[in-house]
Amino acid sequence: MNYFKTQLENMRYTPLNSNWFFNTVDIPDLELIKQELIALEQIAEIKQSNNKIYSNIYKNIVYKHCPLLKKYLESVNLSQKFNRILFSKEVILNNNRTVHVDSYDPTTTSHSLNIPLRDYEDSYTAWYKTDKEQLIDSLQFGLDPINNFAFLLLSDAEEIQRYSYATGNAVLVNTTILHKGISDKKTRMICGIRFFPELTVSDIKKLGITDPYKQE
Ligand SMILES: [Fe+2]
Repeated sequence: MNYFKTQLENMRYTPLNSNWFFNTVDIPDLELIKQELIALEQIAEIKQSNNKIYSNIYKNIVYKHCPLLKKYLESVNLSQKFNRILFSKEVILNNNRTVHVDSYDPTTTSHSLNIPLRDYEDSYTAWYKTDKEQLIDSLQFGLDPINNFAFLLLSDAEEIQRYSYATGNAVLVNTTILHKGISDKKTRMICGIRFFPELTVSDIKKLGITDPYKQE
């Protein structure tokens, strides 16, 4: 604990590539891959998380159930780095309280390749700016506060960008800038493909993004 506390005192909110928020990504057979992912989430045996809102499904299990996703990741040469799928299974309605980054240390989690799966048409990811230098860490939730999410009160933040999921496209998003999901439907489900180690500029080009970190 003292180790974390000493590190935390030195932590600052440091978004990476702070002028880049998202790029849409063209994935062949996306509709079929979505069906695989919806089925994956519903398989009871792998619901190892008791968290109703988020669950992580790691590579081995994903590959067992999602052959088309595996084929896609292999085709773009990112299979080695594919680590897990994070399902956001429910939206906290009227969440006007907090915004977050996916990890306080931005190098731990920098990108998420988001795929909208259910009731997403009227939903968004919105990004925020703040004058605050430090965030509220997740030590209070028993989590490693450096490598897990950190948050801020929405009242200390101002929206600067928004992505609409209306088209149903896949989208690579910047998880190091304060953000949150917005939806009128509690049942909205999206998932994020996560990579470890994190994507490099040349990895992002493999996704078909010709100009990485340039906002489209
Ligand atoms: Fe997030």
